[in-house]
Amino acid sequence: MAGREDEDVDRLPERSQRALERLKDPREHALASALDLDDFARLAKARLPKAVYGYVANGAEAMVARDNNRSAFQHWRMVTRVLRDVSARSQETTLFGKRYAAPFGIAPMGASAVVAYDADNAMARAAREAGIPFALSANSITPLEEVAKTNPDSWFAAYQSPDPSKIERMLGRVERAGYEVYMLTVDVPVGSNRVNDKRAGYSMPLRPTPRLTLDGLTHPRWLAGTFGRTILKRGVPEISNLEADHRVGIFSREVAVIAGHDDFGWREAELIRKLWPGKFVIKGVLSAEDARIARELGADGVVVSNHGGRQLDAAVSPLEVLPEVRREAGGMAVLCDSGFRHGTDVLKALALGADFVMVGRPFLFAAAVAGEAGVQRAIGILSKEIDIDLALLGVNEAREVGPEALREAFTPPRMGEPA
Ligand SMILES: Cc1cc2nc3c(=O)[nH]c(=O)nc-3n(C[C@H](O)[C@H](O)[C@H](O)COP(=O)(O)O)c2cc1C
Repeated sequence: MAGREDEDVDRLPERSQRALERLKDPREHALASALDLDDFARLAKARLPKAVYGYVANGAEAMVARDNNRSAFQHWRMVTRVLRDVSARSQETTLFGKRYAAPFGIAPMGASAVVAYDADNAMARAAREAGIPFALSANSITPLEEVAKTNPDSWFAAYQSPDPSKIERMLGRVERAGYEVYMLTVDVPVGSNRVNDKRAGYSMPLRPTPRLTLDGLTHPRWLAGTFGRTILKRGVPEISNLEADHRVGIFSREVAVIAGHDDFGWREAELIRKLWPGKFVIKGVLSAEDARIARELGADGVVVSNHGGRQLDAAVSPLEVLPEVRREAGGMAVLCDSGFRHGTDVLKALALGADFVMVGRPFLFAAAVAGEAGVQRAIGILSKEIDIDLALLGVNEAREVGPEALREAFTPPRMGEPA
């Protein structure tokens, strides 16, 4: 015992040394304080200009859908099973013919490089390291060819013009770059009413108003580490992947808030299905009827999503419609996103019929806090939570968690009030 105490004393200076080293690198220090996915939002809020933080965090209008996405998980509680050998736990999941290390991936997020330096590549690299999928948004700044080199397993998430010749040229570009999964985002026929973005001073194209300039100047870590570094090393950011042969600078008036096409319909989706040789996934479905149409059209999967509460503010939470979509999905893969922050959130969705989950904001905030290392930590945290939750539920694999593990939350009757 005495020996161990002596050892501890001997090692103290070395440990203090390491603690001091950590303090010297504030990014590492910040990272160590992130214990769950919500912590990345808190840490990013301190670093990012209000307008940029708001762009990521906000939902549409009164942000009802965004907040409902979180509270929907509280509708479900879980029943544990005990005394089962859970020492062979694995989260490995097969999707679109590939084996992934966990049942979740990184959702497509446009204009990420405005939020964190080289964010698309940072997220793509972290996903590759961790063995999970990363979806690149068409509304992004990093050319899709570059991201495909960083992570050859990346998926492409398109906002597509309905012009057949543009469709053909864009599919050709995506295919030549080596993408196998083409995800079509369909819940943005028009940009939504993001009043909170406007209040915070965010717009696309970015307008360097005095307010936005002051916001940037008072957040020097973002100004130098993201904005300045981007301009110096990569030039003025351009939205690079909306069309096969056209780029638009983020300060240019040509950039719409979001690349919606209100004249795009199932006929165009059918054309994409005919032309695209790889996996075709339709993202932003909330209705079972739409899932049926997607299946009949030959899609390989749908993403049940309300865009993180960033489109229709009265939209149902994906969790509410997951079982009915599953029933119509047939052999299609059912993915789900919007509001997933914890291991049990992921497992609840799998129990309600999802095959896979996508997570957005926390990974972009993690990139803003500490680049690729931040994203790696965020992936690790969610994966660790799932691992613990599997053990506590008494199962070895995520797909063993079925509806029998779920109970609707018990609402106690009101006491002491007149009937
Ligand atoms: C900053 C930001 C940008 C986004 N851009 C896109 C996009 O370009 N294409 C798309 O399909 N979805 C986009 N989304 C929606 C995400 O793919 C995903 O559906 C949503 O973020 C999931 O909800 P969560 O952030 O609560 O996890 C974006 C989300 C955020 C937060």
